Parts: sequence; C-alpha cells; structure tokens
Amino acid sequence: MERIKFAIIGLGRIGPRHASHILKHPKGLLSAVCDIDESKRSLFPDTPFFTNYKELLAANTAEVISVCSPNYLHAAMCIHCLQTGHHTICEKPMAISTKDCELMISAALDAQRHLFVVKQNRYNPPVAEVKRLLEENILGKVYQVSINCFWNRNEKYYTSSDWKGSKEKDGGCLYTQCSHFVDIMYFLFGNIKCHAGLVKNAGHQDLVEFEDSGTFVLESEEGALINFNFSTCTFAQNMEGSITIIAEKGTVKIGGQYLNTIDYQKIDNYEIADLKDGALCNDYGDYKGSMSNHDKVIENVIATIGGTAKNATNGFQGMKVVEIIESMYKVSAKR
Ligand SMILES: NC(=O)c1ccc[n+]([C@@H]2O[C@H](COP(=O)([O-])OP(=O)(O)OC[C@H]3O[C@@H](n4cnc5c(N)ncnc54)[C@H](O)[C@@H]3O)[C@@H](O)[C@H]2O)c1
Repeated sequence: MERIKFAIIGLGRIGPRHASHILKHPKGLLSAVCDIDESKRSLFPDTPFFTNYKELLAANTAEVISVCSPNYLHAAMCIHCLQTGHHTICEKPMAISTKDCELMISAALDAQRHLFVVKQNRYNPPVAEVKRLLEENILGKVYQVSINCFWNRNEKYYTSSDWKGSKEKDGGCLYTQCSHFVDIMYFLFGNIKCHAGLVKNAGHQDLVEFEDSGTFVLESEEGALINFNFSTCTFAQNMEGSITIIAEKGTVKIGGQYLNTIDYQKIDNYEIADLKDGALCNDYGDYKGSMSNHDKVIENVIATIGGTAKNATNGFQGMKVVEIIESMYKVSAKR
C-alpha cells in the first residue's frame, strides 16, 4: 500500500498531535518535521528535522504539509507550501485577515493543490447530529441562538509564549479561542451579520494586548437572532462551551466544556440518542482546549488526496470564519 508522506511545520502544543494521528494512520507517513526551536528535534529522533521551513519544502520529502505555527505565520507559510506544489493543512485560524485568506485561496487554485483548514469541532458528535437535524428540517426554522465560550487562560498560558496575547501575532481571543465557536456558528447557520458588540480586557491587563471578554449581537442569513459571549477569565478552569438553539420544532443545547454533550433537548417527535462518546479534549497540562478530533482531519486529508472524499473544510470556509471575526472586531471597535 502506497502511503502519503506528511511533514509538519511547528512542533509546539498542536503539531505533535498532527504527528501522532499521521503515525497512527495506516496510509500516513511522517517524512519530515520542522521547528525553529532546535530542542524540538528530540521529539521525533528518527524523522528528518529542519529548522528552516523553506529548506524542508525544497527538500521535497512530503506531499502534504501541516502548518502548525503561530497564527501570524499561517498565510506566508501556507502560500509557500502551495507554491512549491504541496497539499497544505492549515491550523485554525486560517489567517488573521481576510485579505491573507484570499491570497492563500489563490495560491491553492494556481498550484492546483488542496488547502485544508482545521475545523475539528465539526466532527464533535453533538455538532454533527444537530447539523443533520437542521439540514433535514427536523428542527424547523431557527428563531434564536445563544453561544457561550467561558474558558480559562491563565498567566502561564501567556507568559510561556512569545506570540499568544500579541495583537499582531495572535490576533485576539476571537481568532485563537473562539474561532471554533465562530466556525460552528457559520457551519450551522450560514452567513452571519454582526450588529453590535463590546469587548473588554477584564482580567488580563498586563498579559494580553487585546480583550479577554466579549459580548455580541448577530443575525443569521435566515433571520435567527444570535448572541455570542466569551470570556477567558473563568476561575481556574474552562467551564462552558455551548450553543443553544431555539427553533420552530425543537430546542436543543449543545454544551459541556467544549461542545461535547447534549445538555438538554425537546424536539417534536424526535430524540437525540446514542451519540458516540467522541474524543476527549486536547489537554495541554496547564490548560484544556477543544475536542481532539484531529484524527478525523487527517482521515479526510488522506481520503481527499486518495480521491474517495472531498475536502471537508476548504480555504473558502476558513476565510468565511475570518471574515465573520473581522466584522465582529470592526463593530466592537466602533463602541
Ligand atoms: N485546532 C485546535 O484545536 C488547535 C489547538 C491548539 C493550537 N491550534 C493552532 O495551532 C497553531 C499553533 O498553536 P500552538 O498552541 O501549538 O503554539 P505553540 O507556540 O505551542 O507552537 C508553535 C511552534 O511553532 C514554532 N515556530 C515558530 N516560528 C516558526 C518558524 N518560523 N518555523 C518553524 N517553526 C516555528 C515554535 O517554535 C513552536 O514550537 C496556532 O495557530 C493555534 O491557533 C489549534
């Protein structure tokens, strides 16, 4: 069986998770890794290691490159990967401006290579089930939606990083923590208009250059009212990642800490039951992230390249999320 060769750029928190799923997949092969931090060489002692990603690309050892570097590097790195003929996986957020997303999509089209953007929460069993209920009109018209991301990002999270908390390199909480929730909002309800918003730095004044709390009023293209609240200030731990949908034929709350449970439901002649347990969350020791469905991402990449699936989350979808985030920041900046 011919295996697909992958390389990874960036071996911090998330890069090694890409590696573990590539290594576990029967059709995956990890052919090279890269990090500017020489100490990361020891993570994969048997795999060729590069400190310069352009040298890795020039060595042409892989068909697919996973870009797991800080947010501000995604655009330039992905464009270079695509222009050198590599299918490219970009960690979320796709970039920190719509303009950069456009350049990335153009590069993929010109090179005729796939650009995959990581949106692993779409695979959470409750999210996938609610998507199906919406598509099959089991919930009917959506009237109102409430989204809460109440997480904890502590001092160490920011002080141990040279990019997290920087406006220029990180972008803000909507890009780094909330882009999962903005993506699910777009995935379930389509285009979104932001009417009003307020952001504030309530508890991280000396740590981050942007807000740590926000509240927004939005509307879906079909007219559902949406409120979106986030905070990275919950005491000591993540508390909630939820989406409540009030619709014509049912009310359902996807909840838990990271959109991993059905907290309640009442649906006309229907009950969501027997959902798969799903993956655990990404546990980084000092803090916890989203549901760890990167195995499904790697599976989709391999199946797409093998011609048996389509790219589940392409550059266009990645760009839509960035566009919504930009609109939320634009509205809140006017206050
Ligand atoms: N999908 C998810 O759930 C998820 C979870 C965590 C992080 N992420 C995303 O993954 C990306 C990385 O996040 P992280 O938490 O792993 O960050 P991190 O800071 O822990 O890791 C980034 C790594 O990139 C390396 N790096 C920096 N500049 C480089 C360069 N020029 N060339 C090669 N390597 C370079 C750093 O040395 C570091 O090891 C971010 O965009 C983040 O938003 C996604």
